[in-house]
Amino acid sequence: DFSWKLPDHPKLPKGKTIAVVVLDGWGEANANEYNCIHIAETPTMDSLKKGAPEHWRLVRAHGKAVGLPTEDDMGNSEVGHNALGAGRIFAQGAKLVDLALESGKIFDGEGFNYIKESFETGTLHLIGLLSDGGVHSRLDQVQLLLKGASERGVKRVRLHILTDGRDVLDGSSVAFVETLENDLAKLREKGVDAQIASGGGRMNVTMDRYENDWSVVKRGWDAQVLGEAPYKFKSALEAVKTLRAEPKANDQYLPPFVIVDESGKSVGPIVDGDAVVTFNFRADRMTMLAKALEYENFDKFDRVRFPKIRYAGMLEYDGELKLPRKYLVSPPEIERTSGEYLVKNGVRTFACSETVKFGHVTFFWNGNRSGYFDEKLEEYVEIPSDSGITFNEKPIMKAVEIAEKAREAILSGKFDQIRVNLPNGDMVGHTGDIEATVVACKAADKAVKLILDAIEQVGGIYVVTADHGNAEDMVKRDKSGKPQLKDGQVQILTSHTLEPVPIAIGGPGLAPGVRFRNDVPTGGLANVAATVMNLHGFEAPSDYETTLIEVVDK
Ligand code: 3PG
Ligand code: CO
Repeated sequence: DFSWKLPDHPKLPKGKTIAVVVLDGWGEANANEYNCIHIAETPTMDSLKKGAPEHWRLVRAHGKAVGLPTEDDMGNSEVGHNALGAGRIFAQGAKLVDLALESGKIFDGEGFNYIKESFETGTLHLIGLLSDGGVHSRLDQVQLLLKGASERGVKRVRLHILTDGRDVLDGSSVAFVETLENDLAKLREKGVDAQIASGGGRMNVTMDRYENDWSVVKRGWDAQVLGEAPYKFKSALEAVKTLRAEPKANDQYLPPFVIVDESGKSVGPIVDGDAVVTFNFRADRMTMLAKALEYENFDKFDRVRFPKIRYAGMLEYDGELKLPRKYLVSPPEIERTSGEYLVKNGVRTFACSETVKFGHVTFFWNGNRSGYFDEKLEEYVEIPSDSGITFNEKPIMKAVEIAEKAREAILSGKFDQIRVNLPNGDMVGHTGDIEATVVACKAADKAVKLILDAIEQVGGIYVVTADHGNAEDMVKRDKSGKPQLKDGQVQILTSHTLEPVPIAIGGPGLAPGVRFRNDVPTGGLANVAATVMNLHGFEAPSDYETTLIEVVDK
């Protein structure tokens, strides 16, 4: 019989105040000039590392350890926080879509059958991130979707692309557009009217998250739905090539553009009777557009027109909100997360980050579930992020504010677990600005110090870890590990990495005999939940990945 009640840990006491700190984008790599964590002054994290092997170790944060298709898949915040919070490894969106496409099941499902009803008389619009980054979407999946739709009678297709440069190298957008254009040309030969209709850089157009800046979504809406944008081109290839030639142009931030015909009319606005698929499998940066496409009542910006469409997401993006109503592939069912267990066992929980990562320590942590498990026992605090800037302009971000909120929560005595995400290493790392990323790492380290000081004051315990690598390696490397050159210049890596991440435990409340076991060498992020449950005085559920700690007699 199922019960939420967790068994008592045989050796560890309850009632300790535990800070769980996630440094976003903070991996472990060789010390060199592209390792911003190494270059930065990080005395706090350095001192934690001295606790190895008993109180500091590395854990895996990429590939199969976090439910991604292959060991070549870098980690990301969604799968990382899912694993940290859920304590088990679930096949993630990327993998589930692969399987559904491989078996062809995607084309028999309710979602596809729904959009198919528009194939005869309407246009199929595909909107999403165009790259092979594998974090939010993958080009090969779009290609298979196009093929499947054409085999099933689609007559007219329009693509609305978002250029990447964040999960892949900046500048790679041109090649992705070329690949897609080739595919579309082949479809046209087969008699399908297929074209790219609009585009823009992901950080400037459509892919905002956690309602940080609705104007981003509006710029996308205007181009995709209304067919209006400040830039008009005859083809998408011409668009990205021209826009990239501007000084300081960057794939992530290309302005919105539409493709127009001979008479200057946009080739693909979304109109009544059309079908729309948002082909990102990851939720955080598609939820806002999904709401705009689906909600009858909507006041975040003026949609001007609200076309009657058949809309499906690649995945369901929010199980709680049932958003969107139709989707092509069912998301992983991440239930019985550690957050839910702990709250149901009376652990009072506080979670905090700034807007750009707020959903990571709440929504992703709780298995892609929004809201509280028990309002009486939980408090989630969001600190507004700066918007309208790239974070290399303000690399300190809200690190101090987050640490101060955590500190207050720790000292208040009102909470047993205080969980935060410090975004700096990741958000600034994604800009590719090495100098700024060094400043960012230093800021995150200082924030950790503030939180550890508060833990010291109350006799608590800390668990400091990260969700995936980013700031520790800022250069694209060849197979032998040497920086890769292009036109005589090293290629800056804006994306995450395949590196492992540190985990450190300590604090005055840590029982003397607690140390990392040495028999879980391949431990990954999913092993952290059981570890934290133990430190709260509970045994983890038996199907959780094993704990990283043991208690020896001292
Ligand atoms: C983003 O969405 O910013 C990147 O694609 C992935 O970053 P995250 O996984 O750290 O959020
Ligand atoms: Co990131």
